[in-house]
Amino acid sequence: MADRVLVIGGGGREHALAWKLAQSPHIKQVLVAPGNAGTANNGKISNSAISISNHAALIQFCKDNEIKLVVVGPEVPLAAGIVDDLTGAGVRCFGPTAKAAQLESSKSFSKAFLDRHGIPTARWKAFTNPKEACSFITSTDFPALVVKASGLAAGKGVIVATNKEGACKAVHEIMQDKTFGAAGETVVVEELLVGEEVSCLCFTDGVTVAPMPPAQDHKRLMDGDQGPNTGGMGAYCPAPQISKDLLLKIRDSILQKAVDGMKEEGVPYIGVLYAGLMLTNDGPKVLEFNCRFGDPECQVILPLLKSDLYEVIQATIKRELSSSMPVWSEDSAAMTVVMACEGYPGNYAKGLEITGFSEAKELGLEVFHAGTAIKDGKVVTNGGRVLTVTAIKKDLMSALEEANKGVAAIRFKGAIYRKDIGYRAIAFLSNSRGLTYKNSGVDIAAGNTLVQKIKPLAAATTRPGCNAELGGFAGLFDLKAAGYKDPILVSGTDGVGTKLKAPSFRHTKSIIMALTTLCHNFFSLQQWG
Ligand code: AMP
Ligand code: GLY
Repeated sequence: MADRVLVIGGGGREHALAWKLAQSPHIKQVLVAPGNAGTANNGKISNSAISISNHAALIQFCKDNEIKLVVVGPEVPLAAGIVDDLTGAGVRCFGPTAKAAQLESSKSFSKAFLDRHGIPTARWKAFTNPKEACSFITSTDFPALVVKASGLAAGKGVIVATNKEGACKAVHEIMQDKTFGAAGETVVVEELLVGEEVSCLCFTDGVTVAPMPPAQDHKRLMDGDQGPNTGGMGAYCPAPQISKDLLLKIRDSILQKAVDGMKEEGVPYIGVLYAGLMLTNDGPKVLEFNCRFGDPECQVILPLLKSDLYEVIQATIKRELSSSMPVWSEDSAAMTVVMACEGYPGNYAKGLEITGFSEAKELGLEVFHAGTAIKDGKVVTNGGRVLTVTAIKKDLMSALEEANKGVAAIRFKGAIYRKDIGYRAIAFLSNSRGLTYKNSGVDIAAGNTLVQKIKPLAAATTRPGCNAELGGFAGLFDLKAAGYKDPILVSGTDGVGTKLKAPSFRHTKSIIMALTTLCHNFFSLQQWG
């Protein structure tokens, strides 16, 4: 008999969770509350209007509808104790309890926990008094430039200042102007860490840790990591910057240590644990823990899960993860680009028509909806982050190319999106590819010796019209000398993979362009070398 499950939330992450759960043969229906236009009547998936904040009503709904599992997407219901209440009433619910979710819902709890268990993180101090926070910022001997509202602030409660004055201003904004409301009653002032950020998530049943492939989010609004922090503007997985060895180190020194620490403190952590890490020169350090899948990381991690998500979650809840470890694809990669409304992460308009879904589908892309709704039979915008366009391909470069094509196909007025998602992976892959002459099989010294030896022989073959010297990058041959009217042949004569196949051009400009391309390719290779 097939089961019915309920996913809580309405973002791109929840659409991806519903999409993956719907692939399970054990499942006959996936309800999503409140869901979005992408989860409304989409095969096995449909939306439910049940309130997610009234836990008593939710429990009754689950019992009436024989819901076998509730999967919670966002942090707010977890922090509000949805797992405690539903589990207590006999409804199976996936995620940490409210107490365990403090790893995300209270930054001051989380930082103190990290220190108690010797898990690497930025130096810090928590304050409830703005004056004390500012005097700490000005007097401490490390760059205390990161100011965080301790409570939940939808991923926006962190200010990374460029100087001490800016950090003090941030303290006043959070504590006195109450930019993030009650979440900012306590602030955490933290050392500025430098490095590349990655998201390392795992499933855990409170004892065993099953790492997911590492992903990288792009938190800033604009290309080149400029502009304000957002919930995330795009992601890819796996992040090649994290080698297998480094992932094992992260599993042992961060994820497993955190799970063991929670168990030791009598608050077993069951669910998905997300470590936001900075890869510093002193090794990976924790920027934050989240108690759930990341959004948009979920949209690139789940497509790589070969196992049945429903089975993995059930094993996790039953504390049998060690005998049912999830299996991940080794030969595919996923890339997702978030499309947002003009004005996001500030104010934005709603109700703008979105088109291009069928074109994106024809390209083989998955469009996970986030802030979308259906109005008069049309799909319209209904939130800041509107949707994510996901490409799943054999490697990152092809995924990147495909996701960008999909973004061009989807249209709504004022759509904003980053055009450089994955740029750090591209840089990493180009650097680590080791594109040198030597390892592409070319011995330059031996080549030069050969050139010197055969130069006189080659010179003996020259004829009128020929303008080439052995050892140069290209040769020209003026066909007039052979009785033709105008054309000149240009041919690459040097460089690894920079040959031109006997092209002929009428105009000098074209000849120069051809030579420039040849020389450019040659110098690019030299730079990589
Ligand atoms: P959080 O919500 O704590 O992950 O912070 C949001 C974002 O602020 C992170 O993704 C980082 O880009 C940045 N951030 C947080 N803490 C630090 C830190 N200690 N040093 C540098 N950047 C940070
Ligand atoms: N993408 C970051 C987060 O989900 O918190």
